[in-house]
Amino acid sequence: MKFCAFGFAGPKNSFSTLCLCLIAGFYSIFASSDNSVDAATQIPPEAQTEIIAGLEQRGIRQIKWPRAESPIKPDPEMEKVIADLVSNMTLKEKVGQMLQAEIKNISPDEIKKYHIGSVLSGGGSYPKEKGDSVIDWVAAADRFYQGSIENPKKRAAIPIVWGIDAVHGHNNVRGATIFPHNIGLGAARNPQLIKLIGEVTAREVAVTGIRWTFAPTVAVARDERWGRTYESYSEDPELVKDYALAMVVGLQGNPMGDDFFAADKVIATAKHFVGDGGTYRGKDQGDTRLSEKELFEIHAQGYYTAIAAGVQTIMASFNSWNAYKLHGSHYMLTEVLKEQMGFDGFVVGDWNGHGQIPGCSDGSCAQAFNAGVDMMMVPVDWRDLHRNTLRQVKKGQISEERVNDAVTRILRVKMRAGIIGPNGEVDTLRPAKQKYAGQSAILGHPKHRAVAEQAVRESLVLLKNDDNVLPIQPNQKVFVTGSHANNIANQSGGWSVTWQGTENTNADFPGATSVFAGFEKVTGQFQQSIELGSNHNYKDRPDVAVVVFGENPYAEFEGDQKDLSYSGEKENLKIIQKLKDQGIKVVSVFMSGRPMAVNSLINVSDAFVAAWLPGSEGQGVAQVLSADQNGKSLYDFKGKLSFSWPRNADQVPMNIGDDDYDPLYPYGFGLTYK
Ligand code: BGC
Ligand code: BGC
Repeated sequence: MKFCAFGFAGPKNSFSTLCLCLIAGFYSIFASSDNSVDAATQIPPEAQTEIIAGLEQRGIRQIKWPRAESPIKPDPEMEKVIADLVSNMTLKEKVGQMLQAEIKNISPDEIKKYHIGSVLSGGGSYPKEKGDSVIDWVAAADRFYQGSIENPKKRAAIPIVWGIDAVHGHNNVRGATIFPHNIGLGAARNPQLIKLIGEVTAREVAVTGIRWTFAPTVAVARDERWGRTYESYSEDPELVKDYALAMVVGLQGNPMGDDFFAADKVIATAKHFVGDGGTYRGKDQGDTRLSEKELFEIHAQGYYTAIAAGVQTIMASFNSWNAYKLHGSHYMLTEVLKEQMGFDGFVVGDWNGHGQIPGCSDGSCAQAFNAGVDMMMVPVDWRDLHRNTLRQVKKGQISEERVNDAVTRILRVKMRAGIIGPNGEVDTLRPAKQKYAGQSAILGHPKHRAVAEQAVRESLVLLKNDDNVLPIQPNQKVFVTGSHANNIANQSGGWSVTWQGTENTNADFPGATSVFAGFEKVTGQFQQSIELGSNHNYKDRPDVAVVVFGENPYAEFEGDQKDLSYSGEKENLKIIQKLKDQGIKVVSVFMSGRPMAVNSLINVSDAFVAAWLPGSEGQGVAQVLSADQNGKSLYDFKGKLSFSWPRNADQVPMNIGDDDYDPLYPYGFGLTYK
């Protein structure tokens, strides 16, 4: 395809050139759809018609999926080296490559014995314990690597790849820079910043000797009852498209430039394919009930740009589409994603997602491999899955061809990422010898934190500012209070040091600043007086109170709600009302993973800021809320809602473009000081 033949006249590493080119290429591919492969052609024509009629009844096969053009083309020489490696592997070795075990449940000896292709750290999983140092992480990476390259049979030993959820910075690791969750980044409307965040995240991941992150989430959350709404950039696929491209380029490097998979880059994963954000009634791991056209137009858009940026792995969704589990959908994973869209990297399963297919268990699932999952995420039961898969191949329930295709894809990605050398060398640099590994000073580096601080500033959305109570003036006495005022765990949300983001204290975030600590730094410069308190209990009567409150941390299904009400409404209303009754101005800073129906709180506050889940740099909040010594704002608000804000708790789903669209604050809303 002529893709991008016109581009790249500009500087080689220029991101805007890349964007323009990729996006131009992206649109040009929509024009041609002469390339769909009909995998059903081996089936007798009558049966074929019947199958297709059945699929059409379920809303499938209403469209032909356009090709997703990756700038990373198959390289014939590389393909030959891979084919040689694959032909030297035993079936047992191949099946091992197709499994990903959790680091807690596998030893280096088992990696060696079973030729395991990958390990993962789940949310809140560390080599030894919470607070492990960079050295501990790198040592673990070395142990896994060593296990993988010591192949007793002296056959192709394939270096392992370790994957982790670095979903808002390298969030499992103590001391890492934690960025705002995706919902806040969506409000920032700044793809350049997203690319920078990808770069910083990749570098911090590389410091721990890890080469793969399960990010970005390109879900387009359409029902905010979903506990994973905050992992979504926006309810609007347009924004998700731009961000998916930028984030993948940031993480993996510019696919047309010199930094592609450089030492400080990692493999990215677009997830969860496909339709997770459309889950019915916002139920996590539920059913996405949509036509194929809607699935494509709303939920698949981020995959097109992620692939256009060269993304190498895609994670299958826990969800079903019209009652069919995605992990078992040959149509979506093989016919659509691999054949019609043309994705040539590998599909990784989600945490025992295969076990949810009817007839499967965590330890046995020919269906998922046959559907097109190449590497199964099987944290615990990988031994059973290894044994059963081997048996299923021997019995012909999974074809050897399918196994070879899966392993070829996995090795292709390992080779592109430099985990296997260009000539098939498997004795590549062990993690501890890699350029960034072990460089503790890079983790949470001030320059990285500055990027996060900028992201915090740009993510804040000002919903109300009566009588210009903001910015807070230098001569004012400020009282900072509320459950999230001096609590970095609460401001970071789920996927922060622990899976749910719970059971953390400020000590789990060394180097981070709470909102209060941020005010102290800022006011230190501008001589406001500042007091931290709890509830409405101040010592020194303030002019203005900043009440910082919101949702408590959660992740995944733990965060599902039946409506958009906020459980802390009454409690916080009381605090704010007490302050107001004494004639004190109140600025509410609301931290949440989704827009919520909090009218009473908005009404009673003089100013109301949607701060989402800002992460480790609470200082960014203080910077935007404060004026300098001349009373001028230090920074203006930039954030614009990337999700529509509801009038009431039951107004869901509600999304931009709905016929009866009637939000309290529309998509794109956000006040400024000017
Ligand atoms: C989540 C994925 C995540 C995986 C590994 C799953 O429960 O759905 O997003 O990458 O766990 O932690
Ligand atoms: C893991 C997460 C994973 C989840 C899936 C947790 O125990 O730590 O990473 O996403 O289980 O249910």
